[in-house]
Amino acid sequence: MRAPVRPIRGRWPRPLEARLGRAFRVDPLTILDDDADPSTFREAMSSTYVGDTIKITGSGRHAGADDLLIGALDLRQAAIVDVGASDGSTSVDLVERLGEFRSFTIADLYLTLRAVDVLGHTAFFDGQGRCTLVAGRRLAAWPGLSRPVALLYSPLISAARRRQARAREVLLLNPSARRLIASDPRVGYAVHDVFTPWTGQRPDVIKVANLLRRLYFSDQDLLRALRALHSSLPEGGHLLLVDNPRRKNTPPGVGLYRREGDHFTEVARSGHPEIADLVTLVGTGEPSLN
Ligand SMILES: C[S@@+](CC[C@H](N)C(=O)[O-])C[C@H]1O[C@@H](n2cnc3c(N)ncnc32)[C@H](O)[C@@H]1O
Repeated sequence: MRAPVRPIRGRWPRPLEARLGRAFRVDPLTILDDDADPSTFREAMSSTYVGDTIKITGSGRHAGADDLLIGALDLRQAAIVDVGASDGSTSVDLVERLGEFRSFTIADLYLTLRAVDVLGHTAFFDGQGRCTLVAGRRLAAWPGLSRPVALLYSPLISAARRRQARAREVLLLNPSARRLIASDPRVGYAVHDVFTPWTGQRPDVIKVANLLRRLYFSDQDLLRALRALHSSLPEGGHLLLVDNPRRKNTPPGVGLYRREGDHFTEVARSGHPEIADLVTLVGTGEPSLN
């Protein structure tokens, strides 16, 4: 549940934390630490609540999808883009398995925040200048989730706005992804919106995992995203869709599709990718959708 204020782990008496452990959150300032442990970083990053989708990700969650991709295609010369990659943890997993490839871009619409230190707190602002999170010594607060919390923190947020010139840019990439980018010139990152066509050199493969979900978007919007992805690929290029449903006993849904003319053709599939029905509508004009 998204409560607008949470106590920070390790800053309260132990018995209290032991009793109310689930209410506590990892220190949000972990995202400022280049040497943070990858899983603690993921936990802190997924609590930043940037944008309307969740940023939750996890290492090792795409093993089956990556198997399917590697088994179906020769990727040795491929330019690969992972759209909606969050902090890049799953991109790191795939790159580590690939060996040979031409380039790999970790892409997400929300890759940066600005952090301002003020009055013993750190306020985080998104690209639209909204204060998404305020981290103090004992409490983390999300003003966007509650009007009273926004009012309570408004003097502090106003003071932080006045100090914008001193803001630090925070890259929401996992330390493991940053290390990979620093050590492998084939790997980079980019801000990209899945609803817009890819600019620059066309990728041979686009992976989109846990972003194009009915949980987040209407069918019209999902189809709009699929059309943008189709136009981003060259003829014969591939789209990999991955869903990790959070329902118990529901295996991941994975679909690999090839751009052929104005539509996609299914190349391989495992489980039930949630929007497989919409993929078949690309290239069919303007079908009526619910
Ligand atoms: C649930 S996470 C999925 C992360 C990762 N792909 C995985 O499967 O673990 C969804 C990600 O999509 C990003 N996102 C949301 N809207 C987007 C958009 N319009 N274009 C690109 N990325 C977007 C979010 O910032 C978030 O990092």
